[in-house]
Amino acid sequence: MERIGAATAGSSHALTVLVASPAGYRLIDSGDGQKLEQYGEIRLVRPEPQAMWRPTDPAAWESADARFEGTDEDDGPGRWSAKPDDWTVDCGPAKMICRITSNRHVGLFPEQQPHWDAARRAVEGVEGAERPQILNLFGYTGAASLILAAAGAEVTHVDASKKAIAWARENQTASGLDDHAIRWICDDASKFVAREVRRGRRYQGILLDPPKFGRGPKNEVWNLFEDLPPILSDIAELVADDALFVILTAYAIRASALSFGRLLEESLAGKGGTVTAGELALEEASGRLLPTSMFATWRP
Ligand SMILES: C[S@@+](CC[C@H](N)C(=O)[O-])C[C@H]1O[C@@H](n2cnc3c(N)ncnc32)[C@H](O)[C@@H]1O
Repeated sequence: MERIGAATAGSSHALTVLVASPAGYRLIDSGDGQKLEQYGEIRLVRPEPQAMWRPTDPAAWESADARFEGTDEDDGPGRWSAKPDDWTVDCGPAKMICRITSNRHVGLFPEQQPHWDAARRAVEGVEGAERPQILNLFGYTGAASLILAAAGAEVTHVDASKKAIAWARENQTASGLDDHAIRWICDDASKFVAREVRRGRRYQGILLDPPKFGRGPKNEVWNLFEDLPPILSDIAELVADDALFVILTAYAIRASALSFGRLLEESLAGKGGTVTAGELALEEASGRLLPTSMFATWRP
């Protein structure tokens, strides 16, 4: 579902809200700085600073299988009240193994589903023998890589964490997609992209979901505010003439979707097309929207 925000009088700078409705996930309720979520068969309570309102269904919270208690800071450490065994959440062709981790995440960001669907449709729409080349940077446990490989793309998945790559490969096996073309690369995203530019590589689709702060495998520092502009300049050189999309997302940072949109527009200037910027959101049973990340996308 796509909801277009109201534009200021006389301006066309509306932001877009993409509301996710992933198959295996449901946001049941949120409030008092927390969210109650159904990930497949497991019900979790995790901190959610954006949920400044009151819960609408207080009784439902009693049924949680595990609660994370820690700082409000995203990716910050904390502890779980219980440790359910690994379980699997169905995301179409991707069967995602979910796992309790010490930084509150469980291996799946379901709010990305509108991007998975748009990218999958673009890949499926390609005619001819050549398979579209997709680059998934900061790819984590591989949901987008698996969905796009299943749709017929050749995917290059890059992440700095060996653990994340190993988890993504487990997901590939769990999804029955071992025979699908995915290059799993453990590398620093900026270095990898710079090397691909030197090699003259081109991609039909590029996704990037960088964290605010991260480290490459050789301890290279990733700082979104400093490193996003140069990586986007390099990415502009990787965009093929027949490109389908560039999708940029980020969560838990003090920035605006407007600045993301403006930066992507500037980085891809000269390629024509349209940039859309806005927020990703999850919808509760009550219809209330919980904002999760901001995004900017480019389409030809
Ligand atoms: C927010 S997660 C991406 C979520 C993913 N797009 C999804 O929807 O499942 C960020 C990922 O960036 C990786 N990362 C952090 N610093 C990096 C760097 N310098 N180069 C490559 N990957 C990095 C982390 O290991 C982590 O897996």
